[in-house]
Amino acid sequence: MPDIPSSRLPGFHRLDVEARWRELARRGDVSPEELHVLRALGSPSFEILNQMIENAVGVFALPLGLGLNLTVNGRDHLVPMAVEEPSVVAAVSYAAKVVRHAGGFTADADASMMIAQVQLTGYGSPELARERLLAHREQLLALANSFHPALQRRGGGAREVQVRILPAPEGPQGEPLFIVHLLVDTQEAMGANLLNTMAEGVAPLIEQLTGGRVYVRILSNLADQRLARASCRIPLAALADFDLPGEDIAEGILQASRFAEADPYRAATHNKGVMNGIDAVAIATGQDWRAIEAGAHAYACRTGRYGPLSRWTLEQGHLVGRIELPLALGMVGGPIKVHPGAQLGLKLLRVTTVRELAMVFASVGLAQNFAAVRALGSVGIQKGHMALHARCVAVTAGARGLDVEKVARLLVERGSVKVETAREILASCQAVTAP
Ligand code: MEV
Repeated sequence: MPDIPSSRLPGFHRLDVEARWRELARRGDVSPEELHVLRALGSPSFEILNQMIENAVGVFALPLGLGLNLTVNGRDHLVPMAVEEPSVVAAVSYAAKVVRHAGGFTADADASMMIAQVQLTGYGSPELARERLLAHREQLLALANSFHPALQRRGGGAREVQVRILPAPEGPQGEPLFIVHLLVDTQEAMGANLLNTMAEGVAPLIEQLTGGRVYVRILSNLADQRLARASCRIPLAALADFDLPGEDIAEGILQASRFAEADPYRAATHNKGVMNGIDAVAIATGQDWRAIEAGAHAYACRTGRYGPLSRWTLEQGHLVGRIELPLALGMVGGPIKVHPGAQLGLKLLRVTTVRELAMVFASVGLAQNFAAVRALGSVGIQKGHMALHARCVAVTAGARGLDVEKVARLLVERGSVKVETAREILASCQAVTAP
């Protein structure tokens, strides 16, 4: 495995963008060609984007930042993050730094097993239909695999047929739902297209074997056979901050975890924080983030009650965080092939397999959550948020260059982070510097 440069880049945030590019090139994170891609990300070739969707009329750009300091299973990763919300990138970098000093994140991920669903109706006896289908398991799998022989050659393919019979939503008078699951190892692909082709491809045989009628055939985004987990273990002393001892900060985090555990209203916000990180890296690496979101929230509800994706406990003088969620990601296919930014994002992350990618995503989610609950359980998030929000307000008011930081600082000092106040400050700064 090639040597990976450290994800520590002290002082990176103080450089201007040209200097940041130079630094990435110097370290070998990007090649000279990739540097051109990075520079051009704000205005990618319309020809490329026009291939991606219909009726394209423009490009909606988001800032791309780098989350720093992340180490997962002893390997360093720069985390490309495309996100509009201030503080997300800074929060991941901060949390990853604390965890890094405590030994980094430990993570693992399942194989890329995805579920395709086929809904059968008019099947008569559910037991008989189930028996018939399972008796032809091999034939069904062979047919599914015939649609993607290349996947089998790469070591993947359809592996299992399962039948689920579910109560009719209308009550006992309705026909129970008869759902066939095809379990498919999609290897390095997210697999949506593979699965949908297979589901549609096996439907006629399912109808033939059961005499029923197939309607819906599609993958499930509740990818619960494809989970990723990450954890971290931080000594309490390393948590001390804001003039508070580590024990106090830990207590705030534990209380935040209990709150999310007990209350779905809080769990939704807790998980939103987790997804702040995961979505941002998902977008920057060309993943289907709606699929990831759908899977994460459905998984958060798996016990019948919506709960947090991550939890914090106190174990032998350490604060321990754990996260588990489905992560259906891809390193090949989809927009990754087409979008130069997605390829660059994956290159920056320096992951070699989709499982490793999932481990990084889970760690980023846990890092983001750590930063949020640490602030929420102590000084609150507004202090940090306001400082960053003030920069956006300064820009909206017309500040540029060095004025942005100056206006932002004065906005925070005045305790009024408003565009109007920013305009006043800007006007007074300009009056002072006018010849
Ligand atoms: C804001 O985007 C995310 C948080 O609300 C997450 C949380 O409450 O845990 C700060």
